[in-house]
Amino acid sequence: SQKKEMLYEGKAKQVFATDNPNEVVVRFKDDATAFNAQKKGQVDLKGEMNNAITTLIFEYLNEKGIKTHFIKQLDEREQLVKKVSIIPLEMVVRNYSAGSMAQRLGVEEGIKSPVTIFDICYKKDELGDPLINDHHAVFLGAATYEELDEMYELTSDINEILIDLFDKINIILVDFKIELGKTSDGEIILADEISPDTCRLWDKDTMKKLDKDRFRRDLGEVTEAYVEIYNRLKNLLQK
Ligand code: C5P
Repeated sequence: SQKKEMLYEGKAKQVFATDNPNEVVVRFKDDATAFNAQKKGQVDLKGEMNNAITTLIFEYLNEKGIKTHFIKQLDEREQLVKKVSIIPLEMVVRNYSAGSMAQRLGVEEGIKSPVTIFDICYKKDELGDPLINDHHAVFLGAATYEELDEMYELTSDINEILIDLFDKINIILVDFKIELGKTSDGEIILADEISPDTCRLWDKDTMKKLDKDRFRRDLGEVTEAYVEIYNRLKNLLQK
């Protein structure tokens, strides 16, 4: 299908219309932002790596029965996906303490949680995507309680599959964020991306961070981390 006008430009991706009203093209950029876009930069190869990593992970999830927006990879930076309306909630899952939760609760990073922790954040740039609860989400009209139940269940299923997948490449899935979308017939499916931009990924032996925290915290070797995750996934998954 033919790529047409740009519909949307976000911090790390652009979305283009196609000649099919039910499909859009997502283009992954090298731009990186953190702390609500107060920190900005470029990470060489990031767009290509996140496109390739998201492709491998979404194909894997599809095989495991998770419905996603992914249709096919088009080239190094682009993929064709089903058009959805994004539900304005970031679904965050935490298996270990880290990041904003470690800060908020005053605990160190890297404590394994006995339970799976779910956070939801309201997608609203002007507010810096605040942490909210289910009642706020219903108040805002972002989802109904029934939809939230379905969304937590889907997010939990995805977490189980991803913990196992990353374990196979010697990586601890510390936490991650996903976005869900609604298709034209009202079905809730996985959208957006799953990549080192949206996950915390620690090497099991060395505990080295192989994710966007290297950019956020100026740890260096950012591109190398994304390439490392891609190579491990590719070696495991590519037929
Ligand atoms: O910052 P925080 O600790 O809440 O992030 C939890 C997880 O969600 C991390 O893996 C982070 O990369 C991801 N995240 C994201 N996009 C955001 C906020 C968090 O992908 N806007």
